[in-house]
Amino acid sequence: MFLSKMLHGGDYNPEQWLKYPEILEQDIEIMKNAKINCVSLGIFSWSSLEPQEGEFTFEWLDKVIENLYKNEIYTILATPTGSKPIWMSLKYPEILRVESNRIRNLPGGRHNHCYTSPIYRKKAKIINTKLAERYGKNPAVILWHISNELQGECHCDLCQSKFRKWLKAKYKTIENLNDQWWTTFWSHKFNDFNEIESPANHGELGMDGLTLDWKRFCTEQTVDFYKKEIEPIKKVNPNIPVTTNFMMFYDGVNYNKFKEHIDIASWDSYPSWHNGNGDETINAVYNAFYHDYVRSLKKSPFLLMECTPSSTNWTWVSKHKKPKMHKLASIQAIAHGANSIQYFQIRQSRGCAEKFHSAVISNNHKEENRIYNQVAEVGDILEKISQISSATIKPQVAIIYDVENKWALDISKGPRNAGNGYEDILFKNYKAFWSNNIPVDVIDMEEEIKDYKLVIAPMAYMLKKGFSSKIKSFVAEGGTFVSSYLSGVVNENSLCFMGELPAEELSDILGIYTEDVEGLYDDQSNSVVMIGEYMGLKGEYPSSKICEIIHTKTAEILGVYGSDFYKDEPVFTVNSHKNGYAYYIGTSTNQEFFNIFYKNICAELDIEKNIDVETPEGVTIGKRSYKEMDYYFIQNFTNETVSITLPYKLINILNDEVFEYELNLEPYDSYICTKWLKLEEL
Ligand code: GLA
Ligand code: ZN
Repeated sequence: MFLSKMLHGGDYNPEQWLKYPEILEQDIEIMKNAKINCVSLGIFSWSSLEPQEGEFTFEWLDKVIENLYKNEIYTILATPTGSKPIWMSLKYPEILRVESNRIRNLPGGRHNHCYTSPIYRKKAKIINTKLAERYGKNPAVILWHISNELQGECHCDLCQSKFRKWLKAKYKTIENLNDQWWTTFWSHKFNDFNEIESPANHGELGMDGLTLDWKRFCTEQTVDFYKKEIEPIKKVNPNIPVTTNFMMFYDGVNYNKFKEHIDIASWDSYPSWHNGNGDETINAVYNAFYHDYVRSLKKSPFLLMECTPSSTNWTWVSKHKKPKMHKLASIQAIAHGANSIQYFQIRQSRGCAEKFHSAVISNNHKEENRIYNQVAEVGDILEKISQISSATIKPQVAIIYDVENKWALDISKGPRNAGNGYEDILFKNYKAFWSNNIPVDVIDMEEEIKDYKLVIAPMAYMLKKGFSSKIKSFVAEGGTFVSSYLSGVVNENSLCFMGELPAEELSDILGIYTEDVEGLYDDQSNSVVMIGEYMGLKGEYPSSKICEIIHTKTAEILGVYGSDFYKDEPVFTVNSHKNGYAYYIGTSTNQEFFNIFYKNICAELDIEKNIDVETPEGVTIGKRSYKEMDYYFIQNFTNETVSITLPYKLINILNDEVFEYELNLEPYDSYICTKWLKLEEL
């Protein structure tokens, strides 16, 4: 069953309703009517499964799983480690997290546990083993959901000592560590690994290498905890896939380090729909970027593990999804490779922190409720498009988004503490493809790149080992590489490279070297003045935030600065290197620049578009393919009626409606279509 159809369901917490059997019964009926075919169970059930130490009560869960299964609703079974019983925290205080101020938390909250604590690991192993033994071969269980939104860090003594061991394994000698962390600065040289403490506001925050390594260590501890969680599960039945749900733009851990250990990637998508004037383009671009990032982890379809049926309760303002928005956001997810639409939450809580969060079944549920009907509409769609679950996306363009690079940029003091603009430049690059209907993978510096035609690495500030040599062979073999300001500045430990920058092979590949960089205040600007016309770019484009002063070696100058003491110095260059080309953009410029540049580069490189259609601002068309079959996902994120001219007849696969020539899209309209015949073939 798994992945041979689209999943529709979400987090369900029957343990909150065990005293109301009639509610549980009703829920099943309502779910069936909304075409819900799976639920995530057990995410916060630990105290219902082990109310006292060593006393296990699985009977209620047996019944729930069985009743759901009888009604053709499958179970995604969670391990409950995201939140633990109070008795456990009270009996074993060591399992409670210590914050960076070195104060241990009280019981309560979620993710309030130490990943290192042997006691917590043992407790997790016991409950996971019991769950695996009891349900690991149950045909109702189709997927394991490990913990929930893994996050945070612990600064307890156990973690400190583990961190020191980790550092020793990495650097071997303290001398080495001192050199890489540049500790003679402010006279903070270490004599022994035991002297090292994790970063803290009331301690060390000025040692970039320490902060970076701490973040890497926290990632490794989280991954290690996760790996230990799946051991007993895989032992019982290696055939049930495992996942863990990621969070949008959470950078507390580097998700790329999970990719070998998850069978399928999944994430929780909560964009701030309707936080502005009604045009949802920017929200759509952020969300699309993250869909692509998660899909690129495994390079195959992923699961949308959570989204809200309508509003969230934790945002400043709880806005509802306007009519058509839930369908549009769902079709967007599918367009980018999702094989599910899952909700937080199936049934609304009566009490506590999330009682005002939208749910499929509200406390005042009625068949005619708007939110419920929006969900049911999506259920209907998913049932009709099950064949799309086998369809994939094969982009020829990759954008490098590396979380460790983001850490290094964010930790760095200067050149612009008022915002280094890493995400902004990523989104501008990405949006050009989104608007031009060209699919993109979002990968990190460690990923293989040889199969792409175009690789874009905005602000590749920190060079991970092997990255620049990969770029070198990519360009030598005919690839096109685009890089921008603040690239190739520091090594993996945030230690500045000496000599020509961008460092390692990059300066030769790009045919330039950089001399200096300055930040601009928000109200200051410069400009990129094109020398003639290149790839459709001509005249001037604004420059802001960061300006790098660069010189050419072998590169051709395409654009120069328009003002300031570096007026007429190069800012935009291209270098022909063996069989490929490498571009450098020395400043942050505007969206129009990227739209024109990439549109023309893609045409030149014959990069496949999803469809050969010009779409107006805010409208995009995605594509997934299986064998000869292409599925098109038409999405209008504007609150205006717009029209597009189709190159061929499309058929709405939901109702067989045929679209010819002009397709009018009303605000937030979305369609899933297949291609029919080309008009000239008629
Ligand atoms: C996250 C969590 C859920 C719930 C939702 C609310 O995604 O995983 O348990 O708290 O947020 O939006
Ligand atoms: Zn700890």
